[in-house]
Amino acid sequence: MKIHSASRTLFSLAIAAAALSVSSGALALDDEAAKGLMKKSDCTKCHAADKDKKGPAYKKIAAKYKGKADAEDKVTKFITVSSKVKLADGGEDEHKVIGTKDGKEIKNVVQWILAQ
Ligand code: HEC
Repeated sequence: MKIHSASRTLFSLAIAAAALSVSSGALALDDEAAKGLMKKSDCTKCHAADKDKKGPAYKKIAAKYKGKADAEDKVTKFITVSSKVKLADGGEDEHKVIGTKDGKEIKNVVQWILAQ
């Protein structure tokens, strides 16, 4: 009897967890798509989620924009219009633009970065 009720509890916990991940998945970003597109666009050469490479960590970028109403606009512009940037190693380069023109894909990447 004990075992039976314990496994029932586990079962309902599993259901609750599955429901949770489904609902947050619907709201949230497409993690795989964002990462895949950034990899394809060479962003990974200079950026990582939580450590600085030639460019700042996405966590730092997200922190810089936290609470700013125009964050999405600014970041969208930054990754779609090339500008000269100073690299962490002292060099200078034209900043890469994201390798797609699809507004939805771009938005997903922008929101992914700002969610770090
Ligand atoms: C050659 C290295 C390099 C590559 C490749 C690169 N970045 Fe950057 N990125 C930088 C540097 C350096 C900065 C910091 C610029 C500054 O603060 O002036 C930066 C800044 C940023 C910022 C912050 C802008 C801001 O307003 O603070 C975002 C967002 C960003 N990069 C996204 C991307 C994305 C997305 C890609 C791929 C399409 C990418 N980067 C590719 C070097 C790079």
